[in-house]
Amino acid sequence: MASVALAGTTLVAKAGVARQGRRRSSVNVNAAAYNGAYAEELVATANKIATPGKGILAMDESNATCGKRLESIGLENTVESRQAYRELLVTTPGLGEYISGAILFEETLFQDTRKGTSMVDELNKNGILPGIKVDKGLHPLANSNGESWCAGLDGLDQRCADYYKQGARFAKWRSVVSIPAGPTAIAVRDCAYGLARYAAIAQNAGLVPIVEPEILLDGEHDIDRTLEVAEMTWAETFKYLADNNVLFEGILLKPSMVTPGAEHKKRSTPDEVASYTLKMLRRRVPPAVPGIMFLSGGQSELESTLNLNAMNQSPNPWHVSFSYARALQNSVLKTWKGEEGNVQIAQEALLKRAKANSQAQLGKYDPAGESSEAAKGMFEKGYTY
Ligand code: 13P
Repeated sequence: MASVALAGTTLVAKAGVARQGRRRSSVNVNAAAYNGAYAEELVATANKIATPGKGILAMDESNATCGKRLESIGLENTVESRQAYRELLVTTPGLGEYISGAILFEETLFQDTRKGTSMVDELNKNGILPGIKVDKGLHPLANSNGESWCAGLDGLDQRCADYYKQGARFAKWRSVVSIPAGPTAIAVRDCAYGLARYAAIAQNAGLVPIVEPEILLDGEHDIDRTLEVAEMTWAETFKYLADNNVLFEGILLKPSMVTPGAEHKKRSTPDEVASYTLKMLRRRVPPAVPGIMFLSGGQSELESTLNLNAMNQSPNPWHVSFSYARALQNSVLKTWKGEEGNVQIAQEALLKRAKANSQAQLGKYDPAGESSEAAKGMFEKGYTY
């Protein structure tokens, strides 16, 4: 027996030597996760955003998309109208009670309010961390099934350093996956690998990366098909995040909720959406990740709040919260209408939505008193951000 044990030990020892030998020739195997100068700060930032009862205001629409929103209330898409609208959002008194971070488009990060204060300072005064959309948008992916890839890695390290200097503390990169398009294996892989490369670069510049492979609502598929595609997409995303030595404690996720396609014949209840979405997350997301900040993706204000509330009826391994654009801004825009005299009531509309989602984050949301406007869906086929 002793000699067998001894032989076993020798074998183990030899295997150990062999593994060490491989480590010397390969950079990746030894490095478990980013542990550079910003490591502690990244963890602190991610946890600050994932504060109980708080979520993210996504206000990072590209100029073209912001223009579409402004045109919907009869405004021209100019620097001045974008500035006036975003100033309304960031200067909302008391917003920091429900919102821990705001994602900005580059124009806003470097912009002043009309009073001459910087947008960044206004957010900080409100206790809200400024974030920045760093991707450069979607482009057609050659030889795929009409799918897209997300640009922006070239020069990203320098841009991230500049954004940090300007006050940004977290970043967002949105790539998309289309279920009706397949999705093809190359599209999913490209989406996952791009997100991982971006996340590694952002962390090295002190920005907490929000990892957002948006699975589009478009399609006639049922909820089981969405679950399948979401599991596949997140599996690949985490594989590449790990391969790129991303520090999981210093990232945030921005998933789509698991729902049937927008054109599926049957709608799901909030309980069904919660059960599918949490099942997917538990199977794919390590508990080291501090926060899951959902996108609204074209759901109505009411639906996205009800679904979030349903997900917070029992404790989760991560902070489960929101990073909504349309589902926080829709009634604000409609109330504002571009008129100076409506700024205060529009800010109250923003506070109302932010508070509703804050309560949903705590699992205590009561939909009584919501308007019929809040129940109107905002899905648009082929929506771009
Ligand atoms: P929606 O909440 O409007 O889907 O937008 C969130 C977002 O930031 C998409 O990237």
